[in-house]
Amino acid sequence: MLFNKYFLLLTFFLISYLTIHAQKEYSFIGVKDCAMCHKTEKQGLQLSIWQNSKHAKAYETLKTEEADAIAKEKGFNTPAVETFDCLKCHASGYNVDASLLGSKFKIEDGVQCETCHGPGSDYKPLSIMKDRQKSIENGLIYHENLEDFCIGCHNIESPTHVPMDFGEAWELIKHPVKKD
Ligand code: HEC
Ligand code: HEC
Ligand code: HEC
Ligand code: HEC
Repeated sequence: MLFNKYFLLLTFFLISYLTIHAQKEYSFIGVKDCAMCHKTEKQGLQLSIWQNSKHAKAYETLKTEEADAIAKEKGFNTPAVETFDCLKCHASGYNVDASLLGSKFKIEDGVQCETCHGPGSDYKPLSIMKDRQKSIENGLIYHENLEDFCIGCHNIESPTHVPMDFGEAWELIKHPVKKD
């Protein structure tokens, strides 16, 4: 009898522990925070390379008349910028609880650092960032196959799809760390 009670209690704690940990979610910190360490010439100019790419404008694009017309044609009766089926490739953070958005996070930044690299709340400390394995354990998404990753958005589901030449496209947006 007594044993059973403790057993139940223990199971209860174990289950709550597991659910809490399984649900651990990382939050988005926004481009500004990533840029602290990824903007100088010495670091590899990741910030300006991204700013000059169309990815940085992907959300703004949805605010245009052209975008609304496309959404309408597709049968949506919301403006493009409020349509899930447009936001899913043009932005980050539109589908998560507000508690997971840091104060500097801006949805207007469109396809931003964390759209591709994963929300950075836990991997951003320098001691973790310096170690790829630790970064991955703390939420950094590392892509083994770059082309497949790009095709996740650059595909025929895009209403304005143009087949992508991966080599050319990567040349336009790559932003390597400077090795000295
Ligand atoms: C406190 C400074 C700092 C911050 C903040 C920071 N990083 Fe880093 N990051 C680094 C350093 C240092 C490296 C290691 C560079 C190297 O390979 O020499 C790095 C490496 C990386 C790498 C390459 C990992 C690998 O091993 O290939 C990616 C991707 C990256 N950072 C993305 C981000 C993103 C996205 C953010 C924002 C969410 C961010 N970083 C915030 C300092 C930082
Ligand atoms: C989260 C979705 C997403 C992912 C992942 C993604 N892109 Fe994009 N990309 C977009 C969107 C949306 C645009 C259009 C932005 C606009 O015009 O407003 C775009 C535009 C571009 C452009 C500019 C195209 C043009 O017409 O000038 C290039 C180049 C590009 N992406 C390269 C890449 C590469 C290379 C990868 C993989 C490393 C990649 N993208 C991954 C969503 C994505
Ligand atoms: C599967 C991912 C995906 C979805 C879903 C998506 N887009 Fe895009 N969008 C892209 C990519 C990638 C580009 C870059 C050019 C290309 O390949 O279409 C782009 C480019 C655009 C452009 C710029 C076109 C140009 O000529 O420069 C507009 C406007 C646009 N999208 C509107 C929308 C609207 C409106 C929706 C929702 C009805 C939508 N997109 C849904 C991925 C997507
Ligand atoms: C469209 C997707 C995309 C966006 C947006 C993006 N990156 Fe990356 N980034 C990649 C890919 C893909 C790689 C290659 C490494 C990998 O496979 O994850 C990479 C590599 C890196 C590296 C490591 C380069 C090296 O030499 O190892 C750093 C650092 C980095 N990104 C930082 C950033 C920062 C900071 C931003 C925002 C200012 C950003 N990235 C925006 C896709 C993206």
